[in-house]
Amino acid sequence: MADFDFFSEAFRTDPHGQYARMRERCPVAHASEPYDWWAATRAEDVSQMLRKYKLWSSSHGPGLAYAGGSALVSVDPPRHTSDRRLVQRAFDADALNAMEPDIADLVATEMDGWCDRGHGDLMELLATPVPLVVIAWLLGLDVDYCREIRPRADGVVSRDADVQSATPSSRDGDREEETAYFLRTIAERRAAIAAGDDLPDDTLTALMTAELDGRVLSDVDVLGFMGFLFIAGSQTTTQLIGNMVWRLLQHPDQMELVRGDRSLVPHCVEESLRFDAPVHGLFRTNTEETELRGVTIAENSKVMCSFFSANMDPDAWDAPERFDITRDLDTLRKHYAFGKGIHFCMGAPLSRIEASVALEAVLDRLPNLRLTGEPNFISAPVLHGVETLPVAWDPS
Ligand code: HEM
Repeated sequence: MADFDFFSEAFRTDPHGQYARMRERCPVAHASEPYDWWAATRAEDVSQMLRKYKLWSSSHGPGLAYAGGSALVSVDPPRHTSDRRLVQRAFDADALNAMEPDIADLVATEMDGWCDRGHGDLMELLATPVPLVVIAWLLGLDVDYCREIRPRADGVVSRDADVQSATPSSRDGDREEETAYFLRTIAERRAAIAAGDDLPDDTLTALMTAELDGRVLSDVDVLGFMGFLFIAGSQTTTQLIGNMVWRLLQHPDQMELVRGDRSLVPHCVEESLRFDAPVHGLFRTNTEETELRGVTIAENSKVMCSFFSANMDPDAWDAPERFDITRDLDTLRKHYAFGKGIHFCMGAPLSRIEASVALEAVLDRLPNLRLTGEPNFISAPVLHGVETLPVAWDPS
């Protein structure tokens, strides 16, 4: 076991190199800020941890903070099993797939606004607004308001002990305003349900009208869900779109391949998720003292399952450090970017659609796309990838 500094610049700019060294030299590594915690970096260990949910509990939350909650990601079975069934309708694959034409229209409208400009930051122009608007649709929120407040995942993993102990919704004025706005939205929808009005066919309605064995979600549960989805559903997909286009620009041969054969679009999405997992990793807390690769981990410790590193483990992948969109699609989909086991991401089909639609549009409408500078990397430690993507293209 060795110490590592997850908050160092190196994890932002060269996670591939950092994790390669950790997998090799200290697959269960120790960090000491803001208190003792561990990271598991080998695919086999991450897979075991995600499956053994009795030992590796989610009840203290998926972040570094010991912060429970009622959202799905923070509960264990049996409650998790029934809650997941309760909200399943909101994430029905057919309903999510039916959003594809609307998402294509949204992407087209966004691009109409700037396509003839010939240059810009693709994160600001495309990768940020598209998932934001989609999550606003799902949650019945005002699109302009969401564009203004922008969800931020900074508090999920932080070295700051104050942030660790604060609930995300009480960190600052913005968050309080956000919570108040969510509560107003819930109250309005509750009133519409009581009045028997026609309800929007969105995730919020599905959450608020869901019933299982006589159980319904309370407003507090719905609020927890909204707060979680607002962040988990938008910033992650923003990273996916940005990272994918960035890697294709870095690998012009791969860009040419997908330009010539659009059946490779889903491969690009999955290879991006594998090569650049948007979420570095999430945490579990062990319910009893245990040993992992010879390291004794005291009961109640926070241990990060590194999705990013598991995706790059040579024991699990053939030539993992090669960005290669011709990999077999079924094999690729076994990546860890959406987690594994009982907490597997419920929004995976939606983010796959958003990323595919965005890539098709980039290929169609931005000829001769090229980087015009080096991207900046995102500073929220839980997320990985580019924060800016300066590009130019030949305007039509
Ligand atoms: C590229 C985009 C995304 C990535 C990388 C991602 C990643 C993840 C990961 C790693 C988990 C597992 C959490 C754990 O094991 O503790 C998860 C869970 C979840 N995600 Fe996503 N997510 C994405 C997009 C979305 C979207 C668009 C939505 C919804 C609109 C969503 C909703 C959820 C939900 C509800 C869970 C909780 C499942 C459970 O605990 O049973 N995600 N996501």
